[in-house]
Amino acid sequence: MTAFELIRALAHDATVGIVVTDPTIESPGPTILYANAAFSRLVGRELNHIVGHNPRFMQGRETRRETLDAFHRALAAGERFHGYLTNYRADGTKYRAEIDCRPLRAADGRIENFVSFEREVLRRIGRPAGNAAGRYEPVSVSNDALTGTLRAIGVFEHA
Ligand SMILES: Cc1cc2nc3c(=O)[nH]c(=O)nc-3n(C[C@H](O)[C@H](O)[C@H](O)COP(=O)(O)O)c2cc1C
Repeated sequence: MTAFELIRALAHDATVGIVVTDPTIESPGPTILYANAAFSRLVGRELNHIVGHNPRFMQGRETRRETLDAFHRALAAGERFHGYLTNYRADGTKYRAEIDCRPLRAADGRIENFVSFEREVLRRIGRPAGNAAGRYEPVSVSNDALTGTLRAIGVFEHA
């Protein structure tokens, strides 16, 4: 069983948004091969308007180019990208996404897919903390049960 097959089998009911693409980094890739229901809710689109497209449809005016360049560099280097992006739903509403994206490698080390765990970060009510990250509710994507399972079977060992 490949990591992608395992994710497909386990991700359906996860509360974190999960999206899997092919390994093509340059436009028009990466192509979305799978997304779960939580991802569909996060981005405000039906699954048939997600699968087959590339993830850039969520980007807009306030999506920082510098962050996208860092994302692109990480993918090209086969490294994990963990960061925050301003994205847009189909109805135009803006949201702040925490993105934890990693390569999925075959046994020989070749990158077969990318998987990303995504959720909305909500502003904390009350006095903002000093640094930018402190203004958002911290979320522990990496402690998600599925992520733990994938780590246990060694999917992320090269990441
Ligand atoms: C699995 C995966 C999930 C992604 N999810 C998002 C996302 O939710 N929002 C976003 O703006 N970009 C997302 N991207 C990044 C874009 O596909 C693209 O890599 C990024 O815009 C940087 O590349 P570019 O400079 O060629 O546009 C994702 C990429 C991958 C591989």
